[in-house]
Amino acid sequence: LKKLEYRGYDSAGIAVLNNGITLVKSKGNISALETAVNSKPAPGICGIAHTRWATHGEPNETNAHPHLSNSGRFALVHNGIIDNYQEIKRYLTEAGFTFKSDTDTEVLVNYLEHLVSHTSSVLTAISRLLAELKGSYAFSFVDTEQLGSIWIGRSGAPLVIGLGTKELFVSSDLHAIRNECDQAVFLENHHFAHLQTDKTLDVYNFRGEKSSFEVLKMDKLSEWDDSDHHSYDYITLKEIHEQPGVIRRLLLDNDHFSEIKKLNFSTYQRIILLGCGTSLNAALLAKRYIEDAARIPVVVEQASEFKYSNPILFKTDLVIGISQSGETADTLQACFMARDRGIDVIGLTNAPFSTITRELTACIYLKAGKEIGVASTKAFTAQLMAFLQLAIMLKTDDSLLSLKTEQLQLIPNYMEDLLQRSPEIEALANKYKHVNHFLFIGRGHSFPMAQEGALKLKELSYVHAEAYQAAELKHGPLALVDPSFPVFLLAGDKSNEQKNLASANEVKSRNGNVIAMLRDGEQEIASIADDVIRIPEMPDELVPLASSIPLQLFSLYMAVLKGRNVDQPRNLAKSVTVE
Ligand code: M6R
Repeated sequence: LKKLEYRGYDSAGIAVLNNGITLVKSKGNISALETAVNSKPAPGICGIAHTRWATHGEPNETNAHPHLSNSGRFALVHNGIIDNYQEIKRYLTEAGFTFKSDTDTEVLVNYLEHLVSHTSSVLTAISRLLAELKGSYAFSFVDTEQLGSIWIGRSGAPLVIGLGTKELFVSSDLHAIRNECDQAVFLENHHFAHLQTDKTLDVYNFRGEKSSFEVLKMDKLSEWDDSDHHSYDYITLKEIHEQPGVIRRLLLDNDHFSEIKKLNFSTYQRIILLGCGTSLNAALLAKRYIEDAARIPVVVEQASEFKYSNPILFKTDLVIGISQSGETADTLQACFMARDRGIDVIGLTNAPFSTITRELTACIYLKAGKEIGVASTKAFTAQLMAFLQLAIMLKTDDSLLSLKTEQLQLIPNYMEDLLQRSPEIEALANKYKHVNHFLFIGRGHSFPMAQEGALKLKELSYVHAEAYQAAELKHGPLALVDPSFPVFLLAGDKSNEQKNLASANEVKSRNGNVIAMLRDGEQEIASIADDVIRIPEMPDELVPLASSIPLQLFSLYMAVLKGRNVDQPRNLAKSVTVE
C-alpha cells in the first residue's frame, strides 16, 4: 500500500480473511492505517487493501475502502467510478439494502451480494456486474464463504497480477508488487479472475468462460529505474535533481523510439497531440518543435475536452496521446475514441506496461524512471527532450529548426549548473512566501513554460497563479497587477527580448513587481526587474528545458516554506484514473 500511496492518500483500509473478515480502516495516509492495525491486528494469509483518492463522499473512515456487504459476507475495494451507481442504489434500497457510506463502492459490493443471492454463483454474478456496471473501474473482493481466495475484475481501470514464488499478488499498479515477483499477468479489459492461496489462477472473460492469459517477464523494467536513492528531504526534490541523468539517458541512444520506427511520418498531413496537465503543457511545446521541423500542422487538444468536441478527424491524421503515467483516463479515452475511428494513434509515456502501452500499437518511452512525486518534474523535461529528438528526426529540407542533436548534449550540463543555484531560488521563495497571487507570462517557447510554472506553483504551494501569453497582458489581466500581485516574466529566449522588455515596462509602470527569468548577459530587462533568475544563453528551443529547473525549485521551496506536503499535495493523486 505504501508504494501505491502516491496515487491516493486520503484514507486507507485493509480486510483480511480468517474465520470471517477482519476490517481495519482509517482516515489519512498509510501511517495512520499502520497505527490502527497495530492496535487491531488483522491476521491471515489472504486479504485486500486500498488507499483512496476520494471521488464519492468526503475522505473519512466510513467512506474508506474496503466496504462490507450488508450481510458481511463480502468485503470489496474498488478504483474508478461506477457511473450508474445511483440507479443501482435506488434499486437495492427498494430491495431492502441499507448504506452507511456515500460511495459507489458500497453500492457495488451490495449489488454483488444481491446478484450472488439470485444466481447462487459468484462467477455468474461477476459476469452480470461486468455487463451491467457503467464507467471505468477495477475491483477486488473477498468472500467469507471462500476462504483463501480473492476475486478481481476490471473494465477500463488497470489490474495486474504478480506471480511470486509462494504467493499471488494483485495491484492496480505494477510498481507496488514488482519487487515481490518477476512475472506478471495483465488482466485483459472486461475480464475477471480468481486467485487462490495455493497459487491457482483462473481468468475468465466477461461471459464467464475460462480464458487463457499471457505471463510476462518483468526484467525489462529495471533498465529505466533510478536505483540510487539520494538522501533528499522530498521525493520531488530527488526527482528534480534526477533530470540531468534522465536527459543523458535519452541522449544515449534512440531505442525509446523503436516501436514507432515503422511509422511513415510523411504520410500524415496533421498531428494531434492529446494530454492533460503537465503533459498538455509539454504538448504545447511539442507543437512548436514538430511544426518548425517537419512543417506538418500540429493541433494540441486538451484530452478531457477532445471527446466531447465532435472532433473532425481524417485518415491522414496521427494522434499522439501524451501521459507520464500511461493511466490518465481522460487521455486514454480520447486516444481510444480516435483509434476506434480508424485513426493511427501512438502514445508517449514514462510507464512501461501501463494501459497506454498495452492498448495502443506503439509508444515512445521516456526512460525517466518511476516518478512518484505528484507534481510532474523529470517526466516533463523528458517529454520535452523526446519531442525535440523526434522533431530533429522529422526535419525536412524546408525545416525551420536549426537545432542539431549535438546541441542537445549541452542540456544536462545546463541543468546541473542551475541546480547548483538552488540557494538563490530558495531565497527568492523566502522573499515572496507571503504573496497570494502570481501571474506567469511568456512568449513563444516560454508561454507553455508560463503555464507549467503556474501549474507547479498552484499544485505544490496552493498559491494562486495564472498564466498568460505576455502580449495578452494588456488585453485584460494587467488590471490585476499591483504591488501585491507579482509577475513572473519568462524571457530566457533571445528572439523576443524587445517585446519582453515592453511587457516588463507595462508591469513596472503599474507599480507591479517583475521577477524576470533572463539569459546570462541580458541587461535591459534586468535593469528594471525587481528580481532576476539567470539561465545560460542557449538556442531558444532549449530554454524550456533549462527554465524548468528554477520554476520547479521555486514552487517546491514555496511549498516547503508554507509547510505544504510537497510530495502529496492535498486533494490530488498521481494517476487520475477517473474521467
Ligand atoms: O500521467 P499524466 O501525464 O497523464 O498526468 C496528467 C496530469 O494529471 C498531470 O500532469 C498533472 O497535471 C501533474 N500532477 C502536474 O504536475
